[in-house]
Amino acid sequence: MKKFVLLCFLATSTLLAQMEKPIEMPYVEYPMIKGDHDEVAQQYCLICHSWGYILNQGKKSRPYWNGTVQKMVNEFKAPIPKEDQQTIIDYLVKHYGYEAKAGQSGH
Ligand code: HEC
Repeated sequence: MKKFVLLCFLATSTLLAQMEKPIEMPYVEYPMIKGDHDEVAQQYCLICHSWGYILNQGKKSRPYWNGTVQKMVNEFKAPIPKEDQQTIIDYLVKHYGYEAKAGQSGH
């Protein structure tokens, strides 16, 4: 019986010790290109998801980024003021996209 009690004690104490440890989540940080008010994009675009969502898109045209930011605002209710939306779109086009050339329809 003594042995059993000791075993229970050991079992619970290891369990408790495990629970006390903070659970570590792997946090993957996606680097953002600095400059052109990256802090504005950082402030608003990381509220709901990581920067990986942006990186995954590859280089996109201005109409694409414009549409994506509008989608975040209109469909997902991202709280981004109008003037900041424009700043973010310019930042995205410059660093994660390209200006559509004349005669091209984006994409
Ligand atoms: C209010 C929350 C919210 C904010 C703020 C937000 N997003 Fe999103 N975003 C979402 C949701 C929800 C999805 C869709 C996730 C899914 O389908 O898995 C998404 C998806 C995306 C995608 C993936 C492609 C797509 O069209 O679904 C991109 C790119 C993206 N967001 C860019 C941005 C950018 C740039 C900003 C900053 C201007 C931003 N998001 C801010 C909620 C948000």
